[in-house]
Amino acid sequence: MRLDNCHNFHDFRRLAKVRLPSPIFNYIDGAADDEVTHRRNTDSYEACDLVPNVLRGVTDVDLSVTALGQKLDMPVYCSPTAVQRLFHHEGERAVAAAAEKFGTMFGCSSLGTVALEELKRKHKNPQIYQFYFHKDRELNRSMLQRAKEVGIEVMMLTVDTITGGNRERDRRSGFSIPFKLTPRAMLQFAVKPMWAINYFTHEPFRLPQLEAHIDMANDPASIGRYASEMFDQSMNWDDVAEMVELWDGQFCLKGVMSVEDAKRAVSIGCKGVVLSNHGGRQLDGSRAPFDQLAEVVDAVGDKLDVIVDGGVQRGTHVLKALSLGAKAVGVGRYYLYPLAAGGQPAVERALGLLRDELERDMQLMGCTAINQLSRANLRFRN
Ligand code: LAC
Repeated sequence: MRLDNCHNFHDFRRLAKVRLPSPIFNYIDGAADDEVTHRRNTDSYEACDLVPNVLRGVTDVDLSVTALGQKLDMPVYCSPTAVQRLFHHEGERAVAAAAEKFGTMFGCSSLGTVALEELKRKHKNPQIYQFYFHKDRELNRSMLQRAKEVGIEVMMLTVDTITGGNRERDRRSGFSIPFKLTPRAMLQFAVKPMWAINYFTHEPFRLPQLEAHIDMANDPASIGRYASEMFDQSMNWDDVAEMVELWDGQFCLKGVMSVEDAKRAVSIGCKGVVLSNHGGRQLDGSRAPFDQLAEVVDAVGDKLDVIVDGGVQRGTHVLKALSLGAKAVGVGRYYLYPLAAGGQPAVERALGLLRDELERDMQLMGCTAINQLSRANLRFRN
């Protein structure tokens, strides 16, 4: 299978599966417990139908939006995700560059494998910093200070991953960072030699946001164990209020789901909330962000930007979220499979397909600007 033959999410996923050692593929592809929430994230979009209008003259479509103070050429951005150079040796470099070509934001994680300084230097598009709140308060302070000095546009604190989700696929495969050279891993390298050659002939695996503080080289850990041991389960609203004040800029919480929490986010001065269940990778059985969107927008949509991520595979999914009042939509696996399948050109192809879909779907909806979408053009089946 070649890149030219990838026309949608599922095609890229299949190609990623061919190219990646299976523990790495399953780390991306997998979710928590029975993966019910992961499936529900996409299914929730399918339970809602679009009602188009016709004959409106839709030659030129403007897909731009403003979210978290950033003007984006399209309403979709690349959500921050961890350890991208494990999936393809270009990692965050490929995603940042591809997002720049499409005039949109991308994220770099605390668990990212390229330094945020480098990405900031090379790219003009807005950058999100995905902050994981560690038990080490000194580390938190210095991470925040560093991101401020670098000039990161959006601080996004992940609040749904205070402990590791139960990723049973990772338990079975023994997936860890850095990748351990167990006999089973060696076998994977033998069956996926191209991945192994690329991985070992490029810059060694690093976590540049953390390496001055944390030495993982001698103690590889699963992501779940890392989260449970290093992240701070005592994190509370007072801690976040302090961060918001120190950041003094675009500050957003990723992983809020309830109206109550969205209201508290407003009260401590957050500029946005991302309704998210971490791609179904944390609390299985939790509600899909799209299903929560209307009530959160109704409660706080005039006070901060409500954004949504999880399960988005199609332009029509994006249009449904925007119609309900989301200011922008994040994607994760949607660009991670292409990254694994073929680096930057593949991420560009995936974003290009999505932009084409958005343009076509807007025309078919009878809309030329995102603010023409509204709940009037949606119907829920039950
Ligand atoms: C994940 C975290 C680390 O694996 O973002 O989902």
